[in-house]
Amino acid sequence: MISLVTGANRGIGREVCRQLAALGHTVLLTARSLEAATAAAREIGPDVRPMRLDVTDEAGAARLAQEIDERYGGLDVLVNNAAITYDTWQRAITADLDVVREAAETNVYGPWRLTQALLPLLRRSGHARVVNVSSEAGSLTGMGGGTPAYSLSKAALNALTRMLAAELRADGVLVNAVCPGWVATDMGGPGGRPVADGASGIVWAATLPDDGPTGGFFRDGRPLPW
Ligand SMILES: NC(=O)c1ccc[n+]([C@@H]2O[C@H](COP(=O)([O-])OP(=O)(O)OC[C@H]3O[C@@H](n4cnc5c(N)ncnc54)[C@H](OP(=O)(O)O)[C@@H]3O)[C@@H](O)[C@H]2O)c1
Repeated sequence: MISLVTGANRGIGREVCRQLAALGHTVLLTARSLEAATAAAREIGPDVRPMRLDVTDEAGAARLAQEIDERYGGLDVLVNNAAITYDTWQRAITADLDVVREAAETNVYGPWRLTQALLPLLRRSGHARVVNVSSEAGSLTGMGGGTPAYSLSKAALNALTRMLAAELRADGVLVNAVCPGWVATDMGGPGGRPVADGASGIVWAATLPDDGPTGGFFRDGRPLPW
């Protein structure tokens, strides 16, 4: 199995790489700094290959797809993990829309363009899995005020998950959104649960059997309300 994780030099992404490698996957650990990707990959083990990817870079996504095609001939798992701007300092009524736009570029258009770029490789797998790392902050059911850039971007990512799942069902590509819960990373801050616990629900969705769910929203393998 060839698996790719974005934003994997630290936090939940790095731990997802560690857990997928432990399951025997060849893991493409991507980060916007190749140096950071190399350091993180070296720490995990030999089946983890560092590659550079900034998810806002369209040409970079195309180059990466070409490189993976040449080296591995396909891709089985894509984990869209990279995200920014947990904007606890903002409210929707006064939000800086440039910040909202910037968050969407990484958190929504990033996963979207990368999935498009890698789709020929994922289709070739016949059993591909795409995991969009989302958040309960994007749940419309629970939507209140606050963190407008982040919440909007995750709600949009959930919508994208539904569309991609519907359009890729016939190709055997299962696409799901996963909330890792509140996790003690740079983004989550202290007090959250251990990174390994947040990552395991993502790995669950990345390793679903062929008759597993698609177009769902989960935490720890259990459905969350949209
Ligand atoms: N932590 C939580 O409590 C929590 C809760 C719910 C959902 N989540 C979600 O879980 C995922 C991982 O979060 P985390 O807590 O591990 O966050 P984190 O510690 O802040 O790590 C974010 C990662 O994304 C990378 N990144 C940011 N912009 C990027 C770009 N343009 N291209 C490529 N990589 C980029 C960062 O790379 P650099 O090092 O280069 O900045 C970093 O590796 C995110 O989708 C987040 O929304 C987290």
